[in-house]
Amino acid sequence: MTALSIPLEDTELRSLLHELGAEAARFRFDVAPNPCVGAAILSRGKVIARGFHERWGGDHAEVEALEVATRSGVPRAEWDTLVVTLEPCSTRGKTGPCTQAIMEAGIESVVIGSVDPDPRHQGQGIRFLEDAGLEARFLTGAAPLDEVTPHFLDWTCQDRLRRPYPWIVAKWAQTATGQLSPPKGHGDGRTISSPEALEQVQHLRASVDAILTGVGTVVADDPRLTVRAPARTPQAPDRIILDSGLRTSPDARLFDAPEAGESAGPIRILCATGPDRAREKGLIVAGAGVHGLRGDDRRFLNLRGIMTWMWDMGYRRVLLESGPTLLEACFEAGFVDQVRVVTGPVRGGRGESLGARLQPAKLGSRRDGECGPDSVLEAFIVR
Ligand SMILES: NC(=O)c1ccc[n+]([C@@H]2O[C@H](COP(=O)([O-])OP(=O)(O)OC[C@H]3O[C@@H](n4cnc5c(N)ncnc54)[C@H](OP(=O)(O)O)[C@@H]3O)[C@@H](O)[C@H]2O)c1
Repeated sequence: MTALSIPLEDTELRSLLHELGAEAARFRFDVAPNPCVGAAILSRGKVIARGFHERWGGDHAEVEALEVATRSGVPRAEWDTLVVTLEPCSTRGKTGPCTQAIMEAGIESVVIGSVDPDPRHQGQGIRFLEDAGLEARFLTGAAPLDEVTPHFLDWTCQDRLRRPYPWIVAKWAQTATGQLSPPKGHGDGRTISSPEALEQVQHLRASVDAILTGVGTVVADDPRLTVRAPARTPQAPDRIILDSGLRTSPDARLFDAPEAGESAGPIRILCATGPDRAREKGLIVAGAGVHGLRGDDRRFLNLRGIMTWMWDMGYRRVLLESGPTLLEACFEAGFVDQVRVVTGPVRGGRGESLGARLQPAKLGSRRDGECGPDSVLEAFIVR
């Protein structure tokens, strides 16, 4: 430590860790399956910067905090300590390793709230820092993972590591009585959500690797499944359609060229093995990739096979935007991790309700909000 540094007492560090954990948890639905993490930079015993992991694929908390410290005007030579709720990563993921960034910033001391629960990385961050000559230590108990980021414990549990599949965010709109299709004569006959809530969907799409839907939705709604302004993304999510018998039309709007301000990802249609060759060819010419997969005993495509295929394709955070048939099948098979449900003020409507999936005991870390005239429920699914 520099001669000028005034270390905080452990009680003050604990209270800082507690605050950082509580603030970090605000971003839980935007970062999952990544962990919620908060970090602070200290100079002479004073917090000069705080940073949080705020969105999937975005900068980690440590890097955010270092950037805020740079803008604070406090000279780098006076940054002495970094406090962080979770062991810094030492490997490259969507962003570079945080341990490297901490070392390069000239930080001398690191206080860490929890060890990384992922057995593949556990202890590596602190070892890297110590090997680089930094003073690094754990101060556990003030920002426990089961309070700050319980979903990350699910994501890194043995079962999931052994048979990995993407983090599935199920999103749907429903009427006040729980139906996914509005009553006849309401609006365009398809849309329940307000324009404000529809805009939020664009931001959600911009935060995932892929969008998954069923052919029932493609046939009924003819959706685009693109990311449209004001949302933006450097890489539009892949669009995956489950369509055992290739009922998707080559004239579907999915295949239209993107308009200005719209980003359209590759289209991948998953069908039963041995598809009708003429239909397959028509869809390939229209611009889709067609992939044959095994069926299940209900003559649908096998969901475990789909999850494994998606994992092998590199998708980690996937938005499930389908009708009730595929939503219910994913719930039933235990593949839904997170929900975002928009409820509009209109009553009645058509189709099955998914209300049984939203019983309070099945929802964790719940947040209720509003978007225009609609109410919005976000939660993690408790297993
Ligand atoms: N409110 C909302 O948020 C929302 C969103 C989307 C759609 N919708 C509405 O929902 C309605 C369409 O509902 P839907 O239930 O028919 O659509 P869906 O759930 O999107 O599609 C279901 C179809 O996907 C195919 N599929 C393939 N493998 C499957 C599997 N393992 N599990 C389940 N399905 C599998 C099946 O067709 P094959 O057997 O031919 O493969 C199945 O019939 C429309 O009225 C639409 O407007 C509402």
